[in-house]
Amino acid sequence: MTSIPEKGVFISRSIACLFAVSILFLILSSSILFQFGDNSLVPRSIYNLILAKNIKLDETSVPIEPKSPPFVPKSCKESCFKSNPIEPATSCDRNRARLKVFMYDLPPEFHFGLLGWKGDRNRIWPNVSNLSEIPSYPGGLNLQHSIEYWLTLDLLSSIAPNVARPCTAILVRNSTQADVVFVPFFSSLSYNRHSKIHGTEKKSVDKVLQERLVGYLKGRDEWRRSGGRDHLIMAHHPNSMLLARKHLGSAMLVLADFGRYPAQIANIDKDIVAPYKHVVRRLNASDSPSFDDRPVLVYFQGAIYRKDGGMIRQKLYYLLKDEKDVHFTFGSASSYGVRKASRGMASSKFCLNIAGDTPSSNRLFDAIASHCIPVIISDDIELPFEDVLDYSKFAIFVRGSDAAKKGYLIKLLRGVRREKWNEMWGRLKQIAPHFEYEYPSRDGDAVDMIWQAVFRKVSSVNDKIHRRNRYQMSQKFLNGYKRG
Ligand SMILES: *[C@@H]1O[C@H](CO)[C@@H](O)[C@H](O)[C@H]1NC(C)=O
Ligand SMILES: *[C@@H]1O[C@H](CO)[C@@H](O)[C@H](O)[C@H]1NC(C)=O
Ligand SMILES: *[C@@H]1O[C@H](CO)[C@@H](O)[C@H](O)[C@H]1NC(C)=O
Ligand SMILES: *[C@@H]1O[C@H](CO)[C@@H](O)[C@H](O)[C@H]1NC(C)=O
Repeated sequence: MTSIPEKGVFISRSIACLFAVSILFLILSSSILFQFGDNSLVPRSIYNLILAKNIKLDETSVPIEPKSPPFVPKSCKESCFKSNPIEPATSCDRNRARLKVFMYDLPPEFHFGLLGWKGDRNRIWPNVSNLSEIPSYPGGLNLQHSIEYWLTLDLLSSIAPNVARPCTAILVRNSTQADVVFVPFFSSLSYNRHSKIHGTEKKSVDKVLQERLVGYLKGRDEWRRSGGRDHLIMAHHPNSMLLARKHLGSAMLVLADFGRYPAQIANIDKDIVAPYKHVVRRLNASDSPSFDDRPVLVYFQGAIYRKDGGMIRQKLYYLLKDEKDVHFTFGSASSYGVRKASRGMASSKFCLNIAGDTPSSNRLFDAIASHCIPVIISDDIELPFEDVLDYSKFAIFVRGSDAAKKGYLIKLLRGVRREKWNEMWGRLKQIAPHFEYEYPSRDGDAVDMIWQAVFRKVSSVNDKIHRRNRYQMSQKFLNGYKRG
């Protein structure tokens, strides 16, 4: 054991030594800095060129590739509008659009052909400049998942003359200039209409189309270049792309939720959650029934599920069924009637959105269209555009375990004062247009919001692609090297 004074001397010597070394290091490094200082960031030759000859930097000399113009609102505090004035497609050019999109010319049987549209021999796409040439999407519940239809139409209209729309996404012909590659397969419609086997068929049409799609994509240069990471594939119906999803999971998927996906195939980091298209009538903000004109406190209409997350519906039914100002009935929207549901939600203060067989359902979007404050009881729900929309300003979230407590939910909702309700209702009316699918698309509607959401993913997609490219050259060399 060393005595204390000895230790003190040792320490002070070490400190002195360290000090001397640091000073030396400091002097050395600053001299190096001074030596290379003024041309270490911009090579002197380029610097001189710019200054002396006033040459404009073109893309080859700019260190970062600016693929898209700078952007974006961090969150839509007041509104998500304004940023995108509507303009005729002709004035929306590639340099002004935020998102350049390449779309495969898949044969019509993958898209509008599923709607009975028959192009002639040399036409793959309908003429979107003429409204009466656009095939309509089948109504009823199919419409909930019609996202594929609206996005495809919007892309086509981005280069059609005479269509005025926001200049957010634009179709480009050359895939190397695109930010994302769009796969125009109407997978939800294919599932809804063709997943059953008919007559002598061995496989359903839906299955055949998915197999062909996987083969097609895997054979494309665009897919190989990025490993599919910059591809946008629509799979909004929870059962759509059932066969293909495990082969195409590297792509950005447009989904309703992640309920039926393993996390490595679908997750919030790479995928886009898109709203359902509501089926009830959309209320006009200027004549939306107010607090006193909504006699029903709580509204719920939906199918009953006895398994998984759906159990909560049954529990809530027993908790709420005897309250006099509560409407709580089971039955699918189609049997109950869309018109009745429209009326019911528009005369209710709160509309329940309870987990069913999947965490999401179109009921939330029906509530929004009816300006009925959504009460979300679905612990695993993913919500569209949540990076820019704060849902707590216009919806109430209740944990499933709390909602199941006797008296909890009804007390909570009866306790919401008129002023608070008005505040949320006001916000609801403001944000409702963000959930509307329209053709032509309008500033801040669902189509425009989805493109903006895709735009926000682009830099992380590029990051993944660039990392994947790191060892490309040495790998090629290695392959040759091994062969001798
Ligand atoms: C639009 O298409 C319909 C049906 O094909 C056709 O009858 C009509 O003339 C077209 N309208 C215009 C303005 O070209
Ligand atoms: C598409 O429809 C518009 C409007 O009806 C028409 O002016 C245009 O010529 C059509 N384009 C083609 C390629 O048929
Ligand atoms: C697509 O763009 C790339 C790079 O911008 C260019 O090299 C290529 O020739 C273009 N292809 C076509 C078919 O125009
Ligand atoms: C909404 O209400 C206003 C005023 O009552 C009216 O001018 C407008 O046309 C209505 N909009 C729709 C889509 O019904």
